[in-house]
Amino acid sequence: MSFVCENIGVNAENHLTFAGQDTLRLAEEYGTPLYLLDEDRIRRNCRLYLEAFRASFVPGSRPLYASKAAAFKQVYRVMAEEGMGVDVCSPGEIATAEAAGFDLAGACFHGNGKTDGDIRYALDKGVGCFVVDNAEELLALEAEAGRRGLRQKALLRLTPGIDPHTYAAVATGQVDSKFGVAIETGQAEDFVRLALEQKHVELRGYHCHVGSQVFGEDVFERAAAVMLAFVAEMKEKTGYLAPELSLGGGYGVPYVVSDPIVDIPAKIASVAKTVKETCARLGIPEPAIHMEPGRSIVADAGMTLYRAVAVKRITGYKNYVTIDGGMGDDPRYALYGSRYTCLAAGRMGEASELRCTLAGRCCESGDLIQEDVLLPETVGRGDVIAVCTTGAYNYSMASNYNRYGRPALVMLREGKSFVAVRRESLEDLLRLDL
Ligand code: LLP
Repeated sequence: MSFVCENIGVNAENHLTFAGQDTLRLAEEYGTPLYLLDEDRIRRNCRLYLEAFRASFVPGSRPLYASKAAAFKQVYRVMAEEGMGVDVCSPGEIATAEAAGFDLAGACFHGNGKTDGDIRYALDKGVGCFVVDNAEELLALEAEAGRRGLRQKALLRLTPGIDPHTYAAVATGQVDSKFGVAIETGQAEDFVRLALEQKHVELRGYHCHVGSQVFGEDVFERAAAVMLAFVAEMKEKTGYLAPELSLGGGYGVPYVVSDPIVDIPAKIASVAKTVKETCARLGIPEPAIHMEPGRSIVADAGMTLYRAVAVKRITGYKNYVTIDGGMGDDPRYALYGSRYTCLAAGRMGEASELRCTLAGRCCESGDLIQEDVLLPETVGRGDVIAVCTTGAYNYSMASNYNRYGRPALVMLREGKSFVAVRRESLEDLLRLDL
């Protein structure tokens, strides 16, 4: 049997395994719904980027983990140990990174709506670099850094006008995006001139992020070429030569076996080739290159375990397998129609002939995890249902809709397991009510 990621398997009892561990045993020990994260896989994914960066780009280049994909203390500890930078986009992510002991000098602060409070907080914590989204934020940062007598490093977020051919909700590089300032309209040039006038903001270069779950052949190469042409143009017009360029995150991962696999080292080598050739053609030195992978670091390190609570066969219509979780722990199908591989973890030796919809238990018809799933006909109440590739944007987008607590998050490392985030209790849910 071949699975969507090599950390998935089946043992002699025909139970689904993840990172070599029996998922039925994990469901029994920790309860369901349950997020599993394979720490060894996260580290392996980081190393793919780190090694490719060392081999391909000029010194000072680095990958930063986009921690919006999954933010909790243990993941920041892993990033610190692996030598990754991190992208943080809220005071909550900054506080979590700090609590984990992550050195915030290695963090980049994102967001298109930073408030004065957010700016103050990030400066208080010594976040290394701001990715400034717009002119008003730039001036607010200048004012606050000025009050503190600082010179804050910053990149300017620009939109290169590239369509990454992904789903609309996660495309961000196009001219009319809510993020950043457009090169095409000439506004990016004004943004750069304004930044260069500031005394307390040290302009380090430019940033773009074209989208997420990107499979397109040369999307990052095209983005790099547009951004480097802008670097050269600004040098020509203002004399300012950007020493850094961030190309954002976005490489896609397979959720079902028919999805393509992105060869990260090969992709990075190809981007590096474009950077080298373009810089040579434009007559500019190669800037340090940054990337911000989120999904491709944690997605295939994740799996969610549920238990079926009911199987409903609506004669002549359709079948539902209802599970003990739903859009509260995974809103991605409801939001984007995201595909997943869903398996009956205790029945891996049986044929899958029941075509069904995997439904959540929230009071909302749109609360589905996946449609057109094939599970064994024998599946019933109490069976463990596994949803694969849930490491990115599942835990981080979880909510308490219907006042369900969020699942526990268990890390799997070198054949052992431990709780990294405990299950939310009823007490936790009531904690803020006065
Ligand atoms: N950098 C920036 C500025 C970003 O906005 C993002 C993702 C990343 C890096 C990381 O992109 P990745 O490598 O993970 O594709 N909730 C959606 C995905 C939203 C992506 C938001 N930004 C989902 O569940 O598919």
